[in-house]
Order: sequence, then structure tokens, then C-alpha cells
Amino acid sequence: MSDSDLIRAARQARRHARARFSRFKVGAAIETADGAIVTGCNIENASYGLTMCAERVAIFKALSDGHRRFVRIAVVADTSRPTPPCGACRQILWEYAGDIEIVLANLRREMARHRLAALLPQPFDARNLE
Ligand code: THU
Repeated sequence: MSDSDLIRAARQARRHARARFSRFKVGAAIETADGAIVTGCNIENASYGLTMCAERVAIFKALSDGHRRFVRIAVVADTSRPTPPCGACRQILWEYAGDIEIVLANLRREMARHRLAALLPQPFDARNLE
């Protein structure tokens, strides 16, 4: 699968965002090791803190469909600067997807690319509980 397929899926998912409070719509698409794409969008709530980011919606959907290994996630917002995953999403992605590739794009083009380990140095995870 090409990067542009994944970005296109994230862009499409963004259209479903429920973002009436911030008006900031985000789409995400995660690629599984066996080549499936699972998408997510942000879902806001009048109790703002219950908002769920696009990235977590995507990985939770994928996990609940039985996917266990992931290689890449694309994140799309309508901005001139890239929208990287927030801290909470970095933690969840790290624990369930490991050091995946993160591709950031806007509605027109790809803008940045990172490995999760670079965005979340010295993570806390299950190994710290041993
Ligand atoms: N948001 C995401 O969905 N993903 C990100 O990477 C950054 C922020 C959402 C949460 C909230 O609905 C809106 O964007 C503004 O923060």
C-alpha cells in the first residue's frame, strides 16, 4: 500500500469528525501488518474532556476488530503545520503499536514523517510494571 492510499483514507475519515466544539477536524488511518486500513476521526463531547482523538478511535477500532500488529498511521488536519498525535495518543499507540511510522498530512500534501520512538522518548509501558 502506498502512503497516498493511507493519507487518502485518513482524509476521508476526517469528513466524519464530530468536532462541533473546537471545529478542528482530524482524520487518522492505521495500516495493519497484513495490509488492512482502519480509520478514525475525532469525536467531541459537551463534557470536553471526554473527547476522543482520531488516532485513538482508529487504533481502538482496529484492536476491537482483532488486529494486533501495525506498521504506519496517517493523521490529517486542515492546517498549514502538521498535526502530530497528542500525548495521550502517543502513549496508547506506543503500547499497542510500538515504534510505528507516523505520516502527517493536510488536505493537499504530506508534510512530515516520524517514528513514534522519536516523539515519545523514555516511555512508560508494561516493562516498567515488572
Ligand atoms: N485531535 C485529534 O483528534 N488528534 C490530534 O492529533 C490532535 C487533536 C482533536 C481533539 C479535539 O477534538 C480537536 O482535535 C482539538 O484539539
